[in-house]
Amino acid sequence: MKIAFAGKGGVGKTSLAAWTADWLARNGKNVWLVDADTALSLGQASGVALDQLPQPLIQREDLVRERIHAGGFLNLNPDVGDLPEELAVDVPLGGEPVAGMAPGRKRLLVMGAVTNAGGGCACDANALLKALLAHIVMDRDEWVLVDIEAGVEHLGRGTVTHVDGLVIVSEPSMRSLQTGAEVGRMASDLGLTNQALVLNRHAGGQPPDLDGLPEWSLSIPPLNGLVGRQMTDASVLSLPEVDRLDGYIEELLSRLSP
Ligand SMILES: Nc1ncnc2c1ncn2[C@@H]1O[C@H](COP(=O)(O)OP(=O)(O)OP(=O)(O)O)[C@@H](O)[C@H]1O
Ligand SMILES: [Mg+2]
Repeated sequence: MKIAFAGKGGVGKTSLAAWTADWLARNGKNVWLVDADTALSLGQASGVALDQLPQPLIQREDLVRERIHAGGFLNLNPDVGDLPEELAVDVPLGGEPVAGMAPGRKRLLVMGAVTNAGGGCACDANALLKALLAHIVMDRDEWVLVDIEAGVEHLGRGTVTHVDGLVIVSEPSMRSLQTGAEVGRMASDLGLTNQALVLNRHAGGQPPDLDGLPEWSLSIPPLNGLVGRQMTDASVLSLPEVDRLDGYIEELLSRLSP
């Protein structure tokens, strides 16, 4: 299954993607975590040290030259099938695998953000990034979780049709929910209607009835274990609240599963 995490800045998209991937791997599933955000924090949120993170694909001029400019032509449909294995780093599990279960493999691809801004070399890097995203979403029969900066429209129409579910993450605030509703509307326009809202750091109250917001929502409260730790630790895994979080993730995935 392929799931994208979208929503306004700072709402918890990266944390939720990291929690979901860890839950899946502890439950025996192989999962690709795709960081397609400019902030590039999914690796650190998953417990990978900063100096262990690979250079983001968007900055790999060598690969852009090799794949997009192969043979002196501009190839906007390059062969990228080997890149996930070549570029990914293995991410250790945040906790113990579920009893009796062989743990799955959790791998991280650091891509950088797809932008709609054109021009020069950045445009070619964008083409490589889009091709790799399309490949991993369309051709891989594994769990793929994509952490994106903005809405899914950046992934490209062809790729979006192969995303199975969209998690719109929001804070319990009007502006954050308005952004979420906009993301939901645009995704629906692209045919991605299997959506769930996650109200993160939610301490009570009903979300407003905004056109575009998914009807189904899950609330995750402020996590004291994370608040107390995040000043000195970039990882969001192995929290004291892990059992509660596991329950939320299970609920979310069963909602999104066909
Ligand atoms: N439920 C929660 N309780 C307490 N802190 C949280 C919770 N969820 C996320 N956080 C913290 O909030 C901050 C923002 O979370 P995160 O980086 O996941 O958001 P994001 O949407 O990916 O942000 P960005 O748009 O910058 O990529 C992080 O410091 C994270 O540890
Ligand atoms: Mg993020």
